[in-house]
Amino acid sequence: MVAGMAGTAATAAATVAAAGPAQAKPRRRFEGKVVLITGATSGIGRATAKLFAAEGAKVAFCGRREKLGAEVEREIRRAGGKATYIKADVRVPEQVKSFVDRVVSTYGALDIAFNNAGIGAGKVPHELSVAEWDDVHHTNTRGVFLSIKYEIPHMLKAGHGLIICTSSSTAEVVRSTSSAYSSSKRAVDGIVRPAALAYGSKGIRVNSIMPGTTDTPFIRIPGMSDADWERFKRAYAPLNIDGLLRIAEPEEIANAVVALADPAFSYMTGAVVPVNGGSTAGREMDVPPGFGLPGT
Ligand SMILES: NC(=O)c1ccc[n+]([C@@H]2O[C@H](COP(=O)([O-])OP(=O)(O)OC[C@H]3O[C@@H](n4cnc5c(N)ncnc54)[C@H](OP(=O)(O)O)[C@@H]3O)[C@@H](O)[C@H]2O)c1
Repeated sequence: MVAGMAGTAATAAATVAAAGPAQAKPRRRFEGKVVLITGATSGIGRATAKLFAAEGAKVAFCGRREKLGAEVEREIRRAGGKATYIKADVRVPEQVKSFVDRVVSTYGALDIAFNNAGIGAGKVPHELSVAEWDDVHHTNTRGVFLSIKYEIPHMLKAGHGLIICTSSSTAEVVRSTSSAYSSSKRAVDGIVRPAALAYGSKGIRVNSIMPGTTDTPFIRIPGMSDADWERFKRAYAPLNIDGLLRIAEPEEIANAVVALADPAFSYMTGAVVPVNGGSTAGREMDVPPGFGLPGT
């Protein structure tokens, strides 16, 4: 690249990286399609529900907090979209089956499922209680298994379907306190890829997204004021996210989910798609003062 052009490109890239979520022009790619989402009372699921509905989908979603479920449903309907909240706990087989069946009986089909509900537990192994371990695995891993188990029969009957599950970059870039969470998210990938093989020939594709640190209640430090939270994020991101140097907005992860659901991705299955600002790309090297950079 010519030196002047490199400077222009670098400036443009820095502007984009700093700008935050790009506002996609509204389209109607999912007109009349039925989209099921687990865990859309908050965060990434909530943003994704709104985005699918804004593109014409009929969205049915679950979560345990009824007040928030009703709020999300109301927001989508007020904006002219179609949405139904159904209370369900993804850890409980009967509730997952009943949720999935009700989505189909309410909207008449199941075209796309986003299995997204998840929780964390940040503790080193000996400080984690067995109950905390089980809760993380029952929600993040068993919840995804149960969702797929009860979604697939409807999709087999229809002869088509798309499933996207939420993994995490913490499945790859582990921390000392992430054993329950990282193992539960690794297991999501271990469910998604066999499912892609099992159902590809039946017209059903199964993928997962691997979000990086995203500004949702999931990572919010309890009791922190909004101003302190903004200060914390500004300090945290450059130390921990070497690529884009900032935390994602939930809409940016939602944009990726909706993009993956675009029919144009018809040949993609069994894929784990990183959407994490470069978190799994690698770490920038810290060189001790007074030393030169080694060859790599
Ligand atoms: N935020 C991040 O930095 C980040 C990074 C990578 C991956 N992720 C993953 O992204 C997904 C969404 O997280 P988020 O950041 O959007 O967090 P969030 O704002 O806390 O949302 C989590 C959602 O999951 C639902 N949920 C949790 N346990 C459930 C259960 N037993 N049954 C039904 N729903 C349940 C919650 O609803 P109720 O509480 O109402 O049940 C809520 O709607 C999770 O799988 C998380 O692991 C997040």
